[in-house]
Amino acid sequence: MKKIEHITTFTVFDALDELSSDDRALMEIAIKMRNTAYAPYSNFSVGAALLLENKEIITGNNQENAAYPSGMCAERVAVYSAGALYPNIPIVKIAISASSLKKVVDQPVGPCGSCRQAIAEYEFKQNTPIELLFAGEKGKIVKTTSLKDLLPLSFDKSFL
Ligand code: THU
Repeated sequence: MKKIEHITTFTVFDALDELSSDDRALMEIAIKMRNTAYAPYSNFSVGAALLLENKEIITGNNQENAAYPSGMCAERVAVYSAGALYPNIPIVKIAISASSLKKVVDQPVGPCGSCRQAIAEYEFKQNTPIELLFAGEKGKIVKTTSLKDLLPLSFDKSFL
């Protein structure tokens, strides 16, 4: 028997102006994308912007549904759109921004478990890490260098 320690390192920025200009520009697109989220049930809007290796930027936001489970998170809207439009171009990074009509979201909002799994699929497929940046509407911003940091011991196609 042995115990294995899994250490995750991520960077926390105090404000948008601490980000590199590229990261900040991507986050600003994610922030803008919150405006067109369709979130009448949760009133919680999420915007996502992802940068592809060919410099294209693909965006998404959450799309809710009266049949709640039929809705879709912002991250997966963006990632599946990238997969549909540019199936062979790696994803370099994804910026995510969340806000709510009910309260001020002042902490970084990480992607949900299903979105982590969806992003993990693409990271495994392209065999290069995908950086993630996530934030609330104000406050700190978290940056991870790989989806693996958020989903240790993940399930992937190598098991099939
Ligand atoms: N949501 C996202 O878009 N991304 C996440 O990672 C977490 C949750 C959306 C889904 C739903 O429309 C709303 O936020 C409340 O859960």
